[in-house]
Amino acid sequence: MPAPSATALLDWYDVHARRLPWRVPPEERALGVVPDPYRVWLSEVMLQQTTVAAVKGYFLDFLERWPTLPDLAAAPREAVMAAWAGLGYYSRARNLKACAEAVARDHGGRFPETPEGLAALPGIGPYTAAAIAAIAFDAPAAVVDGNVERVVARLNALETPLPDAKPEIRRLTATLTPDVRPGDFAQAMMDLGATICTPKRPACALCPWSEPCLARRRGDPDTFPRRKAKAERPTRHGVAFVARRHDGALLVRRRPDKGLLGGMLEVTGGDWREGAAPEATPPFAAAWRDAGTVEHTFTHFHLVLSVQAAEVGDRPPPDGCFWLAAADVAGEALPTVMRKVVEAATGKPARKAAARPASGPKKGSSNR
Ligand code: ADE
Repeated sequence: MPAPSATALLDWYDVHARRLPWRVPPEERALGVVPDPYRVWLSEVMLQQTTVAAVKGYFLDFLERWPTLPDLAAAPREAVMAAWAGLGYYSRARNLKACAEAVARDHGGRFPETPEGLAALPGIGPYTAAAIAAIAFDAPAAVVDGNVERVVARLNALETPLPDAKPEIRRLTATLTPDVRPGDFAQAMMDLGATICTPKRPACALCPWSEPCLARRRGDPDTFPRRKAKAERPTRHGVAFVARRHDGALLVRRRPDKGLLGGMLEVTGGDWREGAAPEATPPFAAAWRDAGTVEHTFTHFHLVLSVQAAEVGDRPPPDGCFWLAAADVAGEALPTVMRKVVEAATGKPARKAAARPASGPKKGSSNR
């Protein structure tokens, strides 16, 4: 049986590479065009936990607003959080800003070129460091995302379930990774996983590694990778108060920087807990009406919020809160769960106006 060869995969990539806004296609790479590390980094941070389809619009929007690393380093943090709204996992946006500042301040505006140097920056873990080193600097780093895990688990018919199989998959990927064109190889692995070696019904007939693939030979490639059973997600309940002023402004506050939806805006409400919804105090005495419930699934729990709405006069906001003008709602750092809450209370869309995917940007569940 032939061993899987990097050349076979690279030949396939030369014909079938996806055209992506952050990518230098293989025919241009062959002519010596080098990727812009800023674009590679920005795309990789956005692609953590999020699908290619969802990221494209945000990526282009960020590049238009902040075309270079110094532009992003100098941007107001609130503007970056607002531009990120809807993409989820908001600590990524905080770290993005911190990383841009660190590269501008400590590295003369140039990204380090090694996985170790990159991993020392905010928001860059081992996967992202390897991906940037390979794609931007052609370093022979083993780049293992979910797609690559699937490809390698199938090639080797690995019986070890994920996540225990991760070290073995990393080692096997390092063995496959060539010294020539490692950046294209990393992207070819991602593309193979995304377009051929798909989770369900892989297109083995079109795969350049069909011959050496042990799972294909066994006849059950879609049963790989094996996975440990996951614990069920608990459901938490809470209350959200949407206070609307006569001019349409909404009462909001900024969440603490650390933790879930850190640094993003929210309407006021009580704790989110398992079991019955805990009592919560409204921000003002007013004629609160029940505006139904909103549901949202985060990575570690499902949330059911009872939405209470009231129209209130011009009052000073309670401590820690402020009035968000109606015209600013769409462009502000409102996470998706809060957009749902505002929509339930007002009956009006609270979506961003820019070209965004309507729904479903997450790989798996969402922390939008
Ligand atoms: N997923 C993570 N990084 C990616 C990239 N550079 N291209 C396509 N999909 C990806």
